[in-house]
Amino acid sequence: MTNQPTLNGAVPYLDLPAQMRGLRQEIDAAIARTLDNCSFCLGPDVAEFEKGFAQFCGAEHCVGLNTGTSALHIALLLLNIGPGDEVITTPSTFVATSWAISYVGAKPVYIDVDDATFNLDPKRVRQAITPRTKALLPVHLYGHPADLDSLNEICREHKLPLVEDAAQAHGATYKGKVVGTFGAMSCFSFYPGKNLGAYGEGGALVTNDAALATRARALREHGSTQRYYHDEVGYNYRMEGIQGAVLRVKLKHLGEWTRQRRRVALRYHELLAGTPLQLPVEADYAQSAWHLYVVRHPRRDDLKKYLDACQVGCALHYPLPLHLQKAYAHLGYKLGDFPVAEKAAKECLSLPIYPELTDAQIQRVVAAIKEFFAKG
Ligand SMILES: Cc1ncc(COP(=O)(O)O)c(C=O)c1O
Repeated sequence: MTNQPTLNGAVPYLDLPAQMRGLRQEIDAAIARTLDNCSFCLGPDVAEFEKGFAQFCGAEHCVGLNTGTSALHIALLLLNIGPGDEVITTPSTFVATSWAISYVGAKPVYIDVDDATFNLDPKRVRQAITPRTKALLPVHLYGHPADLDSLNEICREHKLPLVEDAAQAHGATYKGKVVGTFGAMSCFSFYPGKNLGAYGEGGALVTNDAALATRARALREHGSTQRYYHDEVGYNYRMEGIQGAVLRVKLKHLGEWTRQRRRVALRYHELLAGTPLQLPVEADYAQSAWHLYVVRHPRRDDLKKYLDACQVGCALHYPLPLHLQKAYAHLGYKLGDFPVAEKAAKECLSLPIYPELTDAQIQRVVAAIKEFFAKG
């Protein structure tokens, strides 16, 4: 049962206005420039952002898109994946990872996740591979990189491409190298709440392969490289000029923001040690981008109610794994198929984490959690 909290002072789960305050002048000037030159769809700011983000990822090419979902869709189109094909992926993610597989007419094949990181468990991949398997699509969930060397070893063995869903992992590192170039392509989201967020929708496909980048640029522009000539069925997946301008400004701050997220995570580790919560870990090969700070406890729902009553923001990522979603009922999975993912979905709770979160706010979150457990 939830007892009445005694602490005061709201802590928002996410505080985008706090970030905006520090950037407002720069952003206003960047948007004004876009309005002045009327480059609303793609344009010079998008092109400059693409260069900057490719460099940030240590990649040759970045193709700016309207969403991360489109990036995933284009990645699978570029691999010529279609009906009858299978893509191995994780049930513990935002649904867009699977949408992309469905959009090309292929079948998502889920496997259970690693209990420590919630990422695709390499030990389970081999048994899911069939002659129809056409790619591996791991997610760097909550900003923590998947075990890329182990997954790539399997890909090499079976001659399969790997696509990184890095929507939550801008700047995360795997064995010291920024994620984004470990597979054939990687896909990023710039949804406003992401570590690098646009002021609207945004996404990007990153690759070292020039031919893939060229075709991705055509696919985002109705399948054309020359206006009104269409080489293949394409899409309108262009990044807006204003988003390119905003993202160019914000990209300069991303390194510092990631350091600040790390500060928050380390402080939570320190202050929550010894509580009954299971805390998130970093594998020895990883530095998380700390998109989310996700704790676990069997009484998660009671704890959430308590924190809500304390006005301490918290959220559920994700309450129902994808194999149990109604939209995927036709795949025939059932409760019990992926016990690790299913248990995580019942126990996970995301605490506030953002660069602007103050130490006093962190202490307030922790005090509310400790009060919950003290009250039994
Ligand atoms: C893991 C993951 N994949 C894909 C997406 C889709 O990105 P978008 O919302 O930009 O389409 C998101 C974010 O929403 C995500 O968290």
